Amino acid sequence: MTDLIVKKNFHAFSAEITPPGDKSISHRAIILGSLARGKTRARGFLSSRDTLATVNAVRHMGIDVNVNAGEVQILGKGLFGLKMPRDIIDAENSGTTARLLAGLLSAQNFPSAITGDLSLRRRPMSRITVPLRKMGAKILGRGETLPIHITGSELEGIEYDSPVASAQVKSSLLLAGLYARGKTCVTEPKRTRDHTERMLSHFGVPLKVSENCVSIDSAEEFSGTELEIPSDISSAAFLIVAALINPGSEIVIKNVGLNPLRTGVLDIFLEMGGDISIENFRECCGEPVGDVIARHCILNGVRIEGELVSRAIDELPVISVAACFAEGQTVISEAEELRVKETDRIRAMTEELSKLGADIQEMRDGMVINGTQELHGARCHSHGDHRVAMSLAVAATRALGETVIEDTDCVSVSFPGFFQIFDELENRK
Ligand code: S3P
Repeated sequence: MTDLIVKKNFHAFSAEITPPGDKSISHRAIILGSLARGKTRARGFLSSRDTLATVNAVRHMGIDVNVNAGEVQILGKGLFGLKMPRDIIDAENSGTTARLLAGLLSAQNFPSAITGDLSLRRRPMSRITVPLRKMGAKILGRGETLPIHITGSELEGIEYDSPVASAQVKSSLLLAGLYARGKTCVTEPKRTRDHTERMLSHFGVPLKVSENCVSIDSAEEFSGTELEIPSDISSAAFLIVAALINPGSEIVIKNVGLNPLRTGVLDIFLEMGGDISIENFRECCGEPVGDVIARHCILNGVRIEGELVSRAIDELPVISVAACFAEGQTVISEAEELRVKETDRIRAMTEELSKLGADIQEMRDGMVINGTQELHGARCHSHGDHRVAMSLAVAATRALGETVIEDTDCVSVSFPGFFQIFDELENRK
């Protein structure tokens, strides 16, 4: 287990960085590329522990995938080209792998099983097994957590009103819906990231979207395509906060995915008074992209609730770090989903930021943070969660004295080059 030691406050830094590819889009490129006929090439692919779990899963089902220097080539075999997996599918730490593949595997004509690491085996799966069973999926066991065994069967389309705002649930049902008889319709309580919908359209698969509702009919075969995957806004968020809270700093982050259902983090920082701007806004393979520029400035506390929560769900840990350096109070509520991420992120951030001297209080569905503008170094722990580890590393850039973050290998789940970039920022003036 590797610990990260941050010795002192950062200097003011000025940098231009292109973070690695978007994790959500990378998973979907592998899955849809496997179902397409012929070659799909995705530039900007994120090669990280989570996405490689998806790569290994489809390889186990006979799909040829070649990952090489930020590019992936997938030789898809069509909608009915997957083979019975050679082994139990190990989704490792990746909820996206487990939940999306569960939908896909429910509709195949072979049995399969999915498991994951200790963290993933604790996370809720009934959010997908309940609606998949309504479609006729045969999932053995209680289906509340992994491992699950799926027999593979013919499915019927359903109209599903999801009780949770979850892109993983929506995407799992859409993948099952590609095979189901009739129409599959998913309504969400709040809109969530629509990468699956956008990528299906890019592959030429028809689907209908209206407000919170997506519907898909059983699909015809579709062909492989070319994809450009933008940098991950969730990874960019750590660098943005590092610039916002370190006096004199400025960062230019290139080629960031700016899907409006992911940009809650930028809206929150703007509401906090953050000095953030966007340049070179464009569209690439159906996804909006641009360069984000962030400069240090005085932030103020905000209320974060409602649709901002689902539009910034993965960034809330690092937003709680920014709130420590804001003037006044920040209240994050309606964010109980944070409790069932890679770890309980409400508890983890409250415990660990408290060790650094933050004035932060745990709520049932969020956190209340009173900005103190000053933290001190301490020994803290990642809870084995990549986003907690990186959030603490960012907090440590403004903590007086040495901070040790224990167990930081987990950053390889989403941002394998993080430490190298972090080192460069630490030593750059
Ligand atoms: C993801 C959806 C989100 C997000 C996760 C990736 C996806 O989870 O937190 O990191 O790729 O669909 P939920 O859909 O469970 O909210």
